Amino acid sequence: DPAPSKSPAPPASGTATPAGPGRPELLFPAGFGWGASTSAYQIEGAAAEDGRGPSVWDVFSHQPGRTRDGDTGDVAADHYHRFYEDLDIMKDLGLTSYRFSISWSRVLPTGRGTLNAKGLDFYHKLVDGLLARDIAPVATLFHWDTPQAVQKLGGWEHRDCAKWFADYAATMFASFGDKVPTWLTLNEPKTVVEAGYTAGVHAPGKRDRQLANVVGHHLLLGHGLAVRALREINAKARIGAALNLSPTYPADDSAAARRQAAVADAEENRRWLDPVLLGRYPEDWLAAQPADAPVRTAIKDGDLAVIGAKNDLLAVQYYNPAHVTAKGGRVDKHPTSQAPWQQIYPEGLFDLLTRIKRDYGDIPLIITENGMPTRNAIQDQDRIAFLRDHLAAAHRAIQAGVKLETYHLWSLLDNFEWAEGYSQRWGIIHVDYKTRQRARKASADWYKTVIARNGI
Ligand code: NOJ
Repeated sequence: DPAPSKSPAPPASGTATPAGPGRPELLFPAGFGWGASTSAYQIEGAAAEDGRGPSVWDVFSHQPGRTRDGDTGDVAADHYHRFYEDLDIMKDLGLTSYRFSISWSRVLPTGRGTLNAKGLDFYHKLVDGLLARDIAPVATLFHWDTPQAVQKLGGWEHRDCAKWFADYAATMFASFGDKVPTWLTLNEPKTVVEAGYTAGVHAPGKRDRQLANVVGHHLLLGHGLAVRALREINAKARIGAALNLSPTYPADDSAAARRQAAVADAEENRRWLDPVLLGRYPEDWLAAQPADAPVRTAIKDGDLAVIGAKNDLLAVQYYNPAHVTAKGGRVDKHPTSQAPWQQIYPEGLFDLLTRIKRDYGDIPLIITENGMPTRNAIQDQDRIAFLRDHLAAAHRAIQAGVKLETYHLWSLLDNFEWAEGYSQRWGIIHVDYKTRQRARKASADWYKTVIARNGI
């Protein structure tokens, strides 16, 4: 467990320039990527259009009581019909990278078998539109929207789901070839395990910790098989997983709190990082599983070699730290955002990035999510402060030798925040949910200046 860093900011180096009118205080390296992030179900809408098949989130969001105010992603930000406008917004902001996800059931309505040409065409138009604007596409293959037809067969509870996912991934690699330079396999497998299968507050809404861990293993296997599929098809594109990571800190200086922080670190971080980057589960995590835990038999000989196949990069998502008490509970030590689970602690990003370098070496890193929800429609000064402080932490990590290439904030647009529906607004672009009109928030103007100056 990383100790909270007390080291002072490093002395001015070659990339720091004096502050002055129009000049950034913290200059990022030349070629640093500036991006924004979204996901299919959260923005696209057009849930039943052009042959798209339903996913677990269509089913879940339509069940009474599952989401705030019964919100669904049926229309969302209507990006499916407005993506050219959204591309122009991205261009105007000066983005050099855009991270989105492909809806598995839009391209393969039943998850396997027949391709839906119209669905696939949408993503080709999107990718072509990005390339025409010099914005690098970063495509996520799985952002939680398992095709309902696959769920009927057991979804990720079924070991074969890893194979079905890799087949879908291979189909995408073959279709997009070199047009997509960066692929991400899974988005936040930890959230699927914890919210989808343990707390039951996300699709598919199950509450079974043992089953959840089996799902976690199958997700990792799907990741490994997809990496292998890319190597077989196209050696040029890069691939990795998008993991949400939380640096863990003992809530006090007792030995028990330190021990519990290490336990939490295994759950929050090492349990995902070790298989993907080192090809093994952490021993303390494995030892903590009951003797009859089904995950023990779910892990077959050879799986870890597949899961641990070389990745080209790691995509990091950072929202909050975890302060762990002597009894293993969590306490807040920082102000929280509108999302009650989110303590705002920019320093945690520095700790996280430098810890990855220390423990996992110099794999190239990209940040694929970082952001907060705000209540103000347009004057989101709190978001600007959040982004500025996190970018300063990222800058310090770069100064400390971390190979961070690109930063994507979450999110480009206000969108469907899962169980919270439309009640939390995470975008730098405001979406009016009556008219679907887009409007720049103050943070969008601010980010545009950051990008233009390559610094803050
Ligand atoms: C992580 C998820 O990947 C994304 O879908 C979600 O909207 C953000 N966190 C904010 O909670």
